[in-house]
Amino acid sequence: MKLLVYIIGPAGSGKSTFTASFRDWLQSHNVPTATVNLDPAVENLDYVPDVDVREYVFVRDVLEEYGLGPNGAIIAATDLSLEHLPKISKSIDEEAEGYVLIDTPGQMEVFTFRQSGGIMVNTLCSKDKACAVAFLLDASLSIDPYNLVSQIFLAASAFYRFKLPLIVLLNKMDLLSDSEKEKILNWLAHPETLEFEISKVPRDYDAHFTGSVVRVLTEFLSIIPVVMVSAKKSENFEEVYFYLQQIYMGGEDFE
Ligand code: GTP
Repeated sequence: MKLLVYIIGPAGSGKSTFTASFRDWLQSHNVPTATVNLDPAVENLDYVPDVDVREYVFVRDVLEEYGLGPNGAIIAATDLSLEHLPKISKSIDEEAEGYVLIDTPGQMEVFTFRQSGGIMVNTLCSKDKACAVAFLLDASLSIDPYNLVSQIFLAASAFYRFKLPLIVLLNKMDLLSDSEKEKILNWLAHPETLEFEISKVPRDYDAHFTGSVVRVLTEFLSIIPVVMVSAKKSENFEEVYFYLQQIYMGGEDFE
């Protein structure tokens, strides 16, 4: 059986860097791993994907052919990728059993909120495969409590949308000081402290709403693991592997 891991996150959160470095880490631990690029707009990647949507659809060609602007072309290219899903699915099937890391389009809304992303996930996640989402956020933006909360809500919306097991990866931890890391981890472990932080900044809307937001966040964090990582420095990948193995084979190791 294969585990398909969809790597989703806002633009610049580090999806491609993580795909490359986690692939290297898994392979160095003897875990068979393939990579798939589903981003028809990416120009340069840090890795050579085993399966690449750009073999079929490339955004620059779509831009020229349809005379669209950059955002319209990305949406059109992602929609056009659907035609080629059977070939992409077949190529994934031909890869060895193990992990399949799927790098998704740069702008997460194209994949997460439009119909095409749902169709891709449902088509590729057939019965003989396990599927999960690794949702990347930029930890360097999370030192602001408002940003942290709104970023976690983005992850929650992907969880709600795809209905797949999900882990949140707070990437770029190498950019944080030890005290910043500790602060963020403490907020995540005790979301009520976030409510306190948020209510320190007076805003027009009422405290009741903030309380509700924190309650939803608390529930989400009680079921979803959050791991701080550095895709650049391959930090904390053991923990990512631990949670993915729980999803894949109930925690058993490959050896
Ligand atoms: P798009 O698909 O273009 O939206 O980007 P992405 O989410 O694939 O991010 P990408 O991997 O291209 O990384 C964006 C930038 O963040 C690059 O400059 C990376 O070098 C940098 N980056 C990614 N991961 C890390 C990390 O762990 N630490 C640091 N310091 N920088 C990182």
